[in-house]
Amino acid sequence: MELARRIRQIPPSATLALNAKANQLKAQGVDIVNFGVGEPDFETPDNIREAGIKAIREGHTRYTPVGGTPELKEAIIRRFQEDYGLAYKPGEILVSCGGKHGLYNLFQVLFEAGDEVIIPAPFWVSYPPMVMLADATPVVVPTRQENGFKLTALELRQSLTPKTKALVLNSPSNPTGMVYTRKELEALGEVVLEKGLYVVSDDIYDKILFDGEKFVNIAMLSPELKARTFILNGVSKTYAMTGWRIGYLAGPQEGIAAATNLQSQSTSNPTSISQKAAAEALSGPQEAVAAMVKEFAWRRDDILRRSLEIPGVTCPKPGGAFYLFPNFSAYYDRLKPGAGQSPSQALADYLLTEARLAAVPGNEFGEDNCLRFSYATSRERIATGLTRIKEALEKLGK
Ligand SMILES: Cc1ncc(COP(=O)(O)O)c(C=O)c1O
Repeated sequence: MELARRIRQIPPSATLALNAKANQLKAQGVDIVNFGVGEPDFETPDNIREAGIKAIREGHTRYTPVGGTPELKEAIIRRFQEDYGLAYKPGEILVSCGGKHGLYNLFQVLFEAGDEVIIPAPFWVSYPPMVMLADATPVVVPTRQENGFKLTALELRQSLTPKTKALVLNSPSNPTGMVYTRKELEALGEVVLEKGLYVVSDDIYDKILFDGEKFVNIAMLSPELKARTFILNGVSKTYAMTGWRIGYLAGPQEGIAAATNLQSQSTSNPTSISQKAAAEALSGPQEAVAAMVKEFAWRRDDILRRSLEIPGVTCPKPGGAFYLFPNFSAYYDRLKPGAGQSPSQALADYLLTEARLAAVPGNEFGEDNCLRFSYATSRERIATGLTRIKEALEKLGK
């Protein structure tokens, strides 16, 4: 079939291939430890589920305004104001069918052929394909593990060209869990203003933050930076609502209006029922979030300690999200990668068969020295998984 060039250039997801393999083994009765999943292992809190049920009972089952209900937009605006001191008007908010959809809409209206978009690596897997789907060019900028995998102002400066249009930031990060400090963002912000870039700030993990850290994004630093920043957030991770598909953008009115226009010609409004549930999530009690973060913090300590006990493994301490990104390159000379396989893919494959453990190879995120472990799984599975990894790596020998 003669498919459009736009989709032909998008590589198929190796994450999905790994998942398919893991599921195949599971179906054969193999006990797989799954560190591959990118969603909380908790149930959506009861008050939120009840709000969804009530929405159906009360007949909130019709089209809503394209960009989201006034009720949900107000709840979002209140959170931005109360949590971060950021003031937005309803026309500066767009609610979409998940955070991913919000980003897709934004990239489509912001970027076009000839534009370059800076994506610091390691990055969330969907950024480069989404930039390419907007006919623009992803410029992947490697960061250093010694620097906690954070982009410095110098690295940003060195990657600029006259075509650079925007910088994508993601803190806390998927896949590393690293968190930018105010000072680091201030340094990046200077370059952003000097060069007139836009910033896409993916804050989807903002509430999953450990060690009493305070969240800060680049828009909070000055009105000038806020005027150049689009914030992406949503309820998927914070409220364990991945299946409800509600995400939102906040940013300059002109960009939001364009993205709303695109949404009006594609999906129309996000699900009416989910919007009711999301309004409850953002406005209702927040205790369930605190409990979830406390559990993630315990697991972060545990999985980090167990990983660092493996000889040769290094890893920065994540400050948020629910991922660990340990460096296994010390073992790469003992692997036998298959045709076209990178070392991290070869290691992920080896662990799947030898340790019965699924982890995502780092090359998916633009950093081949590492694997991504999601610790959105039970304490018991984390302990079992790390024991299995240790034993499998010992088998590789010296
Ligand atoms: C960094 C990052 N941004 C955005 C998203 C999108 O989340 P959703 O579309 O489920 O709201 C994800 C989900 O994995 C993510 O990890």
